[in-house]
Amino acid sequence: MKGIVVFDSVYGNTKQVAEAIAEQIRADGHSADILNLGEREAKKVEADFMFVGSPTRMGRMTKKAKGFLEGLDMEYWKNRPIVAFGTVGPLSEDGEKRKKWLERVTKSAATRMQELAKERGLSAHPEVLHIAVTGFKGPLASDALDMARDFTHRFIAKLK
Ligand SMILES: Cc1cc2nc3c(=O)[nH]c(=O)nc-3n(C[C@H](O)[C@H](O)[C@H](O)COP(=O)(O)O)c2cc1C
Repeated sequence: MKGIVVFDSVYGNTKQVAEAIAEQIRADGHSADILNLGEREAKKVEADFMFVGSPTRMGRMTKKAKGFLEGLDMEYWKNRPIVAFGTVGPLSEDGEKRKKWLERVTKSAATRMQELAKERGLSAHPEVLHIAVTGFKGPLASDALDMARDFTHRFIAKLK
């Protein structure tokens, strides 16, 4: 199958997560394209499943991520899974504390993207991926990329 990882990123943290997701998709035997919304206009976006990611800014996704989801071809995507991921922070450098915070995140880019996809009648995956940064502009938490790979691996394992 073919996946596409679409993302926006201001300081590069969400970009690193997107790259880790794409690498894991490939490691699990599928192909994966990457689309950076900051570099390229999203025209024809076609794949069997999609990951879409954004940094959280004021509890929301970026304008580019919103515009992307609003412009997505409904007919094409309505039955193909769309997984939302996003970075949040700054969270504690203490892994246990961070884990507890991550479980409690509600207003984030990822949850907003999932909601927007559902509102549009798209097949939003029920689980979102929250990844922590430990400073306002980064860096990613020490376990961030492993978490992204693990989440992706579990998603791929359930694909039919
Ligand atoms: C103006 C601004 C607002 C932010 N608002 C939030 C927020 O509401 N919630 C949150 O978890 N993180 C917030 N952050 C931190 C971002 O999550 C962090 O900058 C982002 O994860 C970095 O990702 P990027 O490197 O891909 O841009 C904010 C950061 C900036 C600069």
